[in-house]
Amino acid sequence: MKGVILAGGLGTRLSPLTKVTNKHLLPVYDKPMIMYPIDCLKNAGITDIMIVTGGKHAGAFVELLGTGKAHGLRKIQFAYQEGEGGIADALSLAEDFADGGKIAVVLGDNIIEGNIAASVEAYRKQPKGARILLKEVHDPQRFGVATLDAAGKVIKIIEKPKQPETNLAVVGIYMYDSQVFEIIRPLKPSARGELEITDVNNAYIQAGTMTAEILQGWWTDAGTFESLFRATKLVVDGGANKLKL
Ligand code: DAU
Repeated sequence: MKGVILAGGLGTRLSPLTKVTNKHLLPVYDKPMIMYPIDCLKNAGITDIMIVTGGKHAGAFVELLGTGKAHGLRKIQFAYQEGEGGIADALSLAEDFADGGKIAVVLGDNIIEGNIAASVEAYRKQPKGARILLKEVHDPQRFGVATLDAAGKVIKIIEKPKQPETNLAVVGIYMYDSQVFEIIRPLKPSARGELEITDVNNAYIQAGTMTAEILQGWWTDAGTFESLFRATKLVVDGGANKLKL
């Protein structure tokens, strides 16, 4: 399976940090943020990776990662997203790279403690459709939020609900078959002017081909000052505040 890391967008929520560099190149403790999603895929045995990025500092990714070999990757490719058309828009640029196969997609600002190897393996065996990971959070209104039926099957996802029905956030790690590009093509921008990954996931749910599981270990995004700070704390000591400064 190939991997896609989405590292476009303008990172305006982290301005002025993002005025002179790309959000995904900011440090999270001892590594640029982008190294965490790379490790996430690599640890699951995925070493053929495309990074979708954009903005004024896209060239810095090539400087940092080169051929990818020094980071244990077999191959790394880049795509350039014009503007900030949303996560699904960024993903659409990976269609030729995916070449009709299944892909694992990781958002460039998502960091996890554990390993998704078992989830990727489960998805490999799934005949078709998509697989998502869910995690209980204390602030679900910041995320896509999943509602499950009595049998534990995801029946809908609402993007950033004001009054969330559950506290189960959709983690920014998605597994898709080649159908994903057919689903993205007719999508219309949401109220925030973006092609939403939640619309993509709801299409799979409607088709009855979405599976889901709870992610083990901690998870955070890092796209706001608070979450970037939390990401660093979690990476250092699992958030336990053990670091002596
Ligand atoms: O972190 C998980 C959450 O990510 C999910 O629960 C939400 O359903 C999903 O919509 C997303 O929410 P955010 O609003 O936090 O996403 P954000 O705009 O911060 O984008 C996350 C990453 O996606 C970003 O680091 C880079 C990539 N991206 C984003 C946009 C808007 C792109 O590559 N291109 C884009 O145009």
